[in-house]
Amino acid sequence: MIKHGTLVRASGQSHQDMLIIDGKIAAIADHIDAAAHPQATVIDASGQLVLPGGIDVHTHFNIDVGIARSCDDFFTGTRSAVCGGTTTIVDHMGFGPKGCSLHHQLEVYKAHAKDNAVADYSFHGVIQHINDDILDEMAAMVTEEGISSFKLYLTYGYKLGDEDVFKALERLNQVGALTTVHPENDAAIAARRSKLVEQGKTAPKYHGVSRPLECEAEAIARMINLAKLADNAPLYIVHLSNGLGLDYLNLARGQQQPVWVETCPQYLTLNETVYTREDATKFILSPPLRPQAECDKLWVGLEQGQIDTVATDHCSFLYQQQKQPQHADFTRCPNGMPGVEARIPVLFSEGVMQGRITLERFVALTSTNPAKLFGLYPKKGCLAVGSDADLILIDPAADSIHRHSELHDACDYSPYEGMKLKGKLTMTLLRGQIVAKDGQFLGHAGQGQFLHRQPFNPIVELH
Ligand code: URP
Ligand code: ZN
Ligand code: ZN
Repeated sequence: MIKHGTLVRASGQSHQDMLIIDGKIAAIADHIDAAAHPQATVIDASGQLVLPGGIDVHTHFNIDVGIARSCDDFFTGTRSAVCGGTTTIVDHMGFGPKGCSLHHQLEVYKAHAKDNAVADYSFHGVIQHINDDILDEMAAMVTEEGISSFKLYLTYGYKLGDEDVFKALERLNQVGALTTVHPENDAAIAARRSKLVEQGKTAPKYHGVSRPLECEAEAIARMINLAKLADNAPLYIVHLSNGLGLDYLNLARGQQQPVWVETCPQYLTLNETVYTREDATKFILSPPLRPQAECDKLWVGLEQGQIDTVATDHCSFLYQQQKQPQHADFTRCPNGMPGVEARIPVLFSEGVMQGRITLERFVALTSTNPAKLFGLYPKKGCLAVGSDADLILIDPAADSIHRHSELHDACDYSPYEGMKLKGKLTMTLLRGQIVAKDGQFLGHAGQGQFLHRQPFNPIVELH
């Protein structure tokens, strides 16, 4: 039983008590009598905020990117997640052997997560090539396997060309799945990269120069138009880093096109000046970090409801490994950085405590909207009777300094090292079990459950 807390929903706040039975929210009322439930453990949440557990719909655990394998697997990644207030993750399956089926990768990833995951989990399907077999497999992935979103990459090794993108959008729409996309113009990046290499400009600081924001914005605009042409297929843009891309999305939304967009804490709170640092390698991720003016535009988008979700794109590689001579050239360095444990604390501090977003919007961005878009609502993403008792408690009056040494991932740095944070996460509950408390991990490997997600809901209304 959780007493005397301030419950925060995407729709508002209330001072109420909550009773949890068998991992689900059994009652919410102004006063629930503890004496009537003598077997209940009572948590006094006086002065604290009680929010639905975080849902991070963009992680890459245990991913092999060819030149390296990420350092977090489903145990360390989800341990880190719950210690950072995230109780559900939707991970991106990595690429499998050439020509492999969608089901092949699902089995591989289920095996990675089973007996290891601490948080509840699902996966986005990954489209590494298109042919009739893959297209025909999509319906069963949605209805039988509960995989109702798929990721396309427009750059990297398994990029899809426009014809395949179009076919994927069309079929995924027909079978009730949401298409998500990593939008960057691969040809422009390749041309710029070759030029930089020719000039010997391969230090980490040139990573950002090789893929300016127009590469991303062009691909966003192209995807918006292709989705419209493909029978108005629903589209979700991942890891938005800039204002021009947001302008294109706003245009489409103004015309009622079903498009949604995610950003990440790194694009809000870090900017391109990190590339002048001696440890610039830590910030090699795609899209790269942008000028501060772009961060500012994203904050405006968050506040005004133009951005729907905040996820992390957690894809961690050891700095010790990235520093090795074979990765010193930015074109040979694995892309990505950690962040799953920092998302809730950093966005709470920089967003809510700095007065840039409301508490309700915070809940919408970190939990309710991702649950609705990805077929998890109302089991996840809300404080309601019958929902899973996935909860986080935050003390808004406490402060802390973000230190990697206090995190629970397997990485050797945090991009947010030393950040002064206002507000402190004090507890995480997964289906009624306390899995983290005051920075201590109290859960165990294998307690996370696979989530069979519902098909995409085309009339979804977000907050
Ligand atoms: O650089 C990044 N973001 N790596 C992870 C894979 C992706 O692009 O999302
Ligand atoms: Zn990506
Ligand atoms: Zn990613």
